[in-house]
Amino acid sequence: MTAGSPGAPRLLEIDGLVTHFPLPRGTFGARRKVVRAVDGVSFAVEAGEMVALVGESGSGKTTTAQSVLRMVEPTAGTIRFRGQDITALGRRPLKPVRRRMQVVYQDPYESLDPRFRIGRSVAEPLAVHGVGTRAERRDVVLRALERAGLTPAEMFADRYPHELSGGQRQRAAIAAALVLGPDLLIADEPVSMLDVSVRAGVLAVFDELRRSGLGILMITHDLSTAVHHADRIAVMYLGRIVEEGPAAEVVRNPAHPYTRALVAAVPRVGHAGRPIEIRPGEPPDPAAVPDGCRFHPRCPIAVEECARVDPALLPAAGPASHRAACPITRQEDT
Ligand SMILES: Nc1ncnc2c1ncn2[C@@H]1O[C@H](COP(=O)(O)OP(=O)(O)O)[C@@H](O)[C@H]1O
Ligand SMILES: [Mg+2]
Repeated sequence: MTAGSPGAPRLLEIDGLVTHFPLPRGTFGARRKVVRAVDGVSFAVEAGEMVALVGESGSGKTTTAQSVLRMVEPTAGTIRFRGQDITALGRRPLKPVRRRMQVVYQDPYESLDPRFRIGRSVAEPLAVHGVGTRAERRDVVLRALERAGLTPAEMFADRYPHELSGGQRQRAAIAAALVLGPDLLIADEPVSMLDVSVRAGVLAVFDELRRSGLGILMITHDLSTAVHHADRIAVMYLGRIVEEGPAAEVVRNPAHPYTRALVAAVPRVGHAGRPIEIRPGEPPDPAAVPDGCRFHPRCPIAVEECARVDPALLPAAGPASHRAACPITRQEDT
């Protein structure tokens, strides 16, 4: 389902992204620690494509999103949006780029002011960017509410956030993200605060937006959401993508031991093969990333080499676009 003509710039292309956070210096002149939240991440999102970034809490998903949006400063790497390098763009030239790249947060109150009617909050980005007359804005707002599935839009525009259900509130936040007509939506765990019964409906809104041509980066810790909705899955572990490929392929033939463990932990995602369990032990700490393969202390199939060599993402068995960072399973599978 990958759109984009050959030679045309990709919608979003991240190359070697690194975002480190220095921690305050310890006592007794201890070496200053650095949180390696994002530690060399590369991926792309095309128009009309949903890419799911999957990984456990603390793996660096939100920091990746915030780096792409330039809400935190990347330490290294490049971010290209429709071919333009935006990594070091200043505030003014960044503004028109930010119009085309919008975010949906886990908590809809990040985008909705509880004191204002929905219509006013959704119109706010238009006002900030000086788009249209008052009457024109009203029209654009109503259309955005409709795209997010809030109909009749006039009625929802006049409600206050607290008068809406959780699912409706998140739809209003999606409308606020759509109102400027973006090309890319970054959704950071958009349904994890919602009641299970309304999640599918909200995810269906993203499905429809993707069909209409938007690129979507869907951040989730839930592999089953990823496999049911995304075209591609990128699995993150301790600041790195350890596996990436077509969604069904990654889940049916996971090539990295960490992905295999994730898949084994999710009932009904359709993986029949060897389940692998992560070894118990210390939770991963991005301020103390292990040498070699960063997963090796928890990996049930690690060998001596894994403690020394930091593996690159290389083609796995199957489609060429399926890649994983594990030389051990690559030897087994090929
Ligand atoms: N501003 C910050 N300063 C220091 N550490 C941070 C900061 N933001 C995030 N972190 C740390 O970076 C790691 C990755 O966090 P995050 O990107 O939020 O992961 P995720 O979204 O996958 O749960 C975590 O260990 C988190 O505590
Ligand atoms: Mg997060």
